[in-house]
Amino acid sequence: MSERSFVMIKPDGVAAGLTGEIISRIERRGLVVVGLKKLTVTRDAAESHYAEHRARPFFGELVDFIVSGPVVMLAVEGQGAIGALRTMMGATNPLDAAPGTVRGDYALDVGQNIIHGSDGEESAARELALHFAEL
Ligand code: RTP
Ligand code: MG
Repeated sequence: MSERSFVMIKPDGVAAGLTGEIISRIERRGLVVVGLKKLTVTRDAAESHYAEHRARPFFGELVDFIVSGPVVMLAVEGQGAIGALRTMMGATNPLDAAPGTVRGDYALDVGQNIIHGSDGEESAARELALHFAEL
């Protein structure tokens, strides 16, 4: 079933020059980028984006990191897009992420893991409404 997901190349991924590589991987997989923008996330938007983690000890650090530099936001469409993107991203902790995944190939630190992707239909709808209201 065709569905839409929200992807964010985090500040470390943008700073490392991985924007093109990540978009290439998404397109070569057969998924379609239907929205794309580069911006610095506001603290309000970062806190709302990660609201489910508000009570976690790493929340402050996570928000500080997400607002620390420009990100690239993508709306991505295709068959099984949400799950396909999660698989392409790899495990949250890059040390557990398989080679061939974005995190397994380009990251080591759980706090700076290059890419975000929606983890289900509900979060995809919520995140697209938050960051791509124009779509
Ligand atoms: P994301 O939301 O960024 O796509 O990552 P995820 O679904 O794979 O992982 P999630 O559980 O949603 O965690 C969100 C982000 O919080 C940071 N984190 N740090 N220090 C820690 O133990 C810890 N655990 C999670 C990570 O940067 C993770 O991407
Ligand atoms: Mg998550």
